[in-house]
Amino acid sequence: MSYTIKDIAVAAEELKKQFETLEDKKAIRRSPTFRELFSKIKTAEPDKRAQFGSEVNKLKNEVEAWLSELESDNDDRAPIDVTAPFPTNSNPTTRFSLLPTQKGSIHPLMKELETVLGIFARMGFATIESREIDDDYHMFGALNFPEGHPARDDYDTFMTTQKDKKGKQFIAPAHTSTMQNRVLRQFASNLVSDEPIAVVIPGRVFRNEDLDARHEHTFYQLEGVYVGKAVTAGNLIATLKVFLQEYYQQELEVKTQPFYFPFTEPSFEFALSCPFCKKQGCNVCSQTGWIELLGCGMIHPNVLKEAGIDPTVYTGFAWGGGIDRLVMMKYDIEDIRHFESGKLEFLRQFS
Ligand code: DAH
Repeated sequence: MSYTIKDIAVAAEELKKQFETLEDKKAIRRSPTFRELFSKIKTAEPDKRAQFGSEVNKLKNEVEAWLSELESDNDDRAPIDVTAPFPTNSNPTTRFSLLPTQKGSIHPLMKELETVLGIFARMGFATIESREIDDDYHMFGALNFPEGHPARDDYDTFMTTQKDKKGKQFIAPAHTSTMQNRVLRQFASNLVSDEPIAVVIPGRVFRNEDLDARHEHTFYQLEGVYVGKAVTAGNLIATLKVFLQEYYQQELEVKTQPFYFPFTEPSFEFALSCPFCKKQGCNVCSQTGWIELLGCGMIHPNVLKEAGIDPTVYTGFAWGGGIDRLVMMKYDIEDIRHFESGKLEFLRQFS
């Protein structure tokens, strides 16, 4: 390129030499030669100033052209417009090769959940999904955990720094019971027309755990809530037993042991006879013949009251248990952490 102004022609020569020796070519943009030229624009004679300015600009563009020429030298692939579909008639052999795609498959947890929900749907339960972020009230307050209650410590989970209107941090729920108050309110009109409230609530839950083959920070639970007139613990046990027999396609024995949850009274731990060894003792049931599966109980009157339901007229039961556990037992999966790992070797076994 030629420049009519001598200073600029000289600077162009200098810049060319610098460009050739520079390791980081882009540093040419910050060359002192440019700075000098820019300051000269101001001191140039008024009638030459415009010409000076436009030639400096021309030089700048020339330097940019060197840079982009270099870039295109380094990359001889044709640019790809990722938004452009291939013309249907283009020659397949000249199309860019993209990463190979394969059909995905349903995650084993979701596949199993569909089976579980299908059984409950046939038993008349509606399904409502739980939330992945919730508040202190639904996590504790609505479930009869008073402020400062030690049982709150059993649900150590993750919190946001953002706070709700009451100044409490939002919570990544540690159980699906957070939904109890909501579903009781949402379906309360069933009771007026003499129908029960029957809902199952699948959801992803979170706990601040020491991780190992049996403990994961993120896992899935299925909550169940049933409320009506004259509902008893016998109905609770029968419902879970029918579900498990349908799920494992065999006759099973079940048993309950007393337990404590603030939101049920009485509360139980629910166990089934091992469907894999028929109580003979195996690895799945740790040689005991029984599997402790979930927590359950009769919904505490305070929980019903909090949802606007009269506990002197209505009673109900609830349960909550891990879905991962069911799937691990069914497929003999040795480590719960496989589920969230995204490892294709693991997932392909279920496709
Ligand atoms: N939310 C309890 C937990 O994760 C499990 C549970 C126990 C749920 C009893 C219930 C229930 O609905 O009635 O530890």
